[in-house]
Amino acid sequence: MTRHFKTALPILLIGLVVAVGAIWQSASAADCTLTYDNFGKAFLEKHCLFCHSSAKTGFARKGAPGDANFDTLDSFKKFTDESMKKVVVKKTMPPMASMLPDDERAKFKQWIECEFK
Ligand code: HEC
Repeated sequence: MTRHFKTALPILLIGLVVAVGAIWQSASAADCTLTYDNFGKAFLEKHCLFCHSSAKTGFARKGAPGDANFDTLDSFKKFTDESMKKVVVKKTMPPMASMLPDDERAKFKQWIECEFK
């Protein structure tokens, strides 16, 4: 009886840790903390406006399509799905993948989901 309990205890503890972890994770996904003001604006400025800025024309855009400007939340809005694909799934934006670490991509995804879904 006691012996069974001793072997079961670590398993129970692991189960508890996993359960608490799962609850914590779903809670942090549910209460969105990332907003345009505290994350999105600075993210776009730092990683995207180098090319996707309405202040840039011609060669200064480095090939970024003329209407794809992310200076404001409003102008970025219609590019959220495409950006999700390019930044998070395919990692083709910014054009050099090494320019953006994976944890930043994950935050970007979280922000998009919070802000637009
Ligand atoms: C070094 C310049 C550069 C940077 C920085 C950059 N892009 Fe781009 N972007 C481009 C170019 C060039 C294209 C056109 C080619 C393509 O679609 O792959 C493009 C296209 C896009 C498109 C498609 C627009 C359309 O009209 O189809 C989206 C969406 C996009 N970028 C999002 C982003 C996001 C979000 C960031 C920041 C995380 C970013 N880009 C950073 C150069 C850049």
